[in-house]
Amino acid sequence: MSLIQTDENIIAQMDSYMQRVSELAPQIYKRRPVACVNTFGCQQNVSDSEKIKGMLKKMGYTFTDEPIDADFVLFNTCAVRGHAEERVFGNIGTTKQLKRERKETVVAVCGCMAQQEHICDRIRKSYPYVDLVFGTHVTHRLPEFLYKRLTGSGRIFEISNDNNEIIEGMPLSRDGKIKGWLPIMYGCDNFCTYCIVPYVRGRERSRASADIIAEAKQMIADGFKEIMLLGQNVNSYGKGLDEDINFSKLLRKINALPGDFRIRFMTSHPKDCTRELIDTVAECEKVERHLHLPFQSGSNRILKQMNRRYTREDYLELISYAKKRIPEVSFTSDVIVGFPGETYEDFLETLDLVKQVGFASLFTFIYSKRNGTPAAQMPDPISREEKGKWFSELLKVQEQISRAKNADLVGREFTVLCDSTAGEGRLSGKTLSFAEIEFEGNENLIGKFLKVRIDKFTNLLQGSVIE
Ligand code: SAH
Ligand code: SF4
Ligand code: F3S
Repeated sequence: MSLIQTDENIIAQMDSYMQRVSELAPQIYKRRPVACVNTFGCQQNVSDSEKIKGMLKKMGYTFTDEPIDADFVLFNTCAVRGHAEERVFGNIGTTKQLKRERKETVVAVCGCMAQQEHICDRIRKSYPYVDLVFGTHVTHRLPEFLYKRLTGSGRIFEISNDNNEIIEGMPLSRDGKIKGWLPIMYGCDNFCTYCIVPYVRGRERSRASADIIAEAKQMIADGFKEIMLLGQNVNSYGKGLDEDINFSKLLRKINALPGDFRIRFMTSHPKDCTRELIDTVAECEKVERHLHLPFQSGSNRILKQMNRRYTREDYLELISYAKKRIPEVSFTSDVIVGFPGETYEDFLETLDLVKQVGFASLFTFIYSKRNGTPAAQMPDPISREEKGKWFSELLKVQEQISRAKNADLVGREFTVLCDSTAGEGRLSGKTLSFAEIEFEGNENLIGKFLKVRIDKFTNLLQGSVIE
């Protein structure tokens, strides 16, 4: 007997569980069941939560933002920094009272935190009112776990990581109607020494391009105007697939689809960001003129300790090629301050790199020790207070750069995708280079591409629609 399950039979099994839950839940709750899905962390989790909501919807659940109103409360968690984890525990704690009042409410924890053994143990011992805990490799089995719990099973803890298959064809309920996430790959093989992601998300695996293209076509047909391609390292898309594909080729294929839409992508790892990719961005008119290219540190010594596998010189060369090749290109990045063993001199190299590149904005983090990663074993003599000072220094420098970049845009005209309201008759939208502009307008402009002139920069860019 083969132990390998094909997508079809996993999907058939889950369909059957979904059917059974949809019949059972209204009897238990004496109403149409209600779910509250709380999502923490990165876009990968947001995208996974859309799948979870897709399954719940098929099981007959409606949605609320208030745990107190829900029959099923789920926390889709992030493990990337200690602070993120503590916040989640705080939130889980609040469901204790809720379970006291309505014991048939099901409380579940899934995602990256749940994938870790020590977190499971902590929940098992200290949070007895949590019913289900399941990891990132078995998200698609939620209908099974829910059915079993609703039919009297004990608490369920399922964090096996032997399923590295990508399950296609499960239901999906997207949060938005204009901008949509489209995962192209899962997991990460890079093992940056500070990072927990490869341990909680497993090995890198890419979706077949035909599945991605089919989903993109559906999104375009459904009226989406921005497709965000997602992966921890999109530049290594295609490795291990039996087809002649890489990320640049995939971008060209999506760019060639008919329709009025934009393509964004994240995250690019500098070591795999090729000139071919930069040329592709330059040549594909639907692809954003923006690269989110995390450099993490400007010091070669620290980059080596981080196992990033590029130097500051490699990085700056890449940036300079992109500036030459892509008109109006903008850059954003992630930076870690206070990696173990980092000195003030190393930090100054980070500051220098920030000044040289001129990022539109930065996502800045103070190093957080993650048990199980190599960096957790490295001596870390600099105090939190000192790291905090460096961190503030970095923020100050970047704030000036962001302001100057924005001020440079005043007086210019851009095509903007209007994506949301900004309150009181105001709307908000983004340029192809990822600058955010606010302007006056009626809500029926949401989802349209508009020509906007930038009139001024206060704390934000303000403009007016010209056509
Ligand atoms: N795969 C992406 C993003 C991973 S997580 C990438 O490689 O860029 C997002 C960001 O969190 C990382 O870029 C990094 O800057 C930050 N990060 C990851 N682990 C961290 C840690 N232990 N402490 C502080 N920041 C961390
Ligand atoms: Fe973490 Fe590095 Fe992988 Fe990004 S590339 S997810 S920082 S290990
Ligand atoms: Fe967090 Fe997991 Fe994303 S650890 S950053 S939610 S991949």
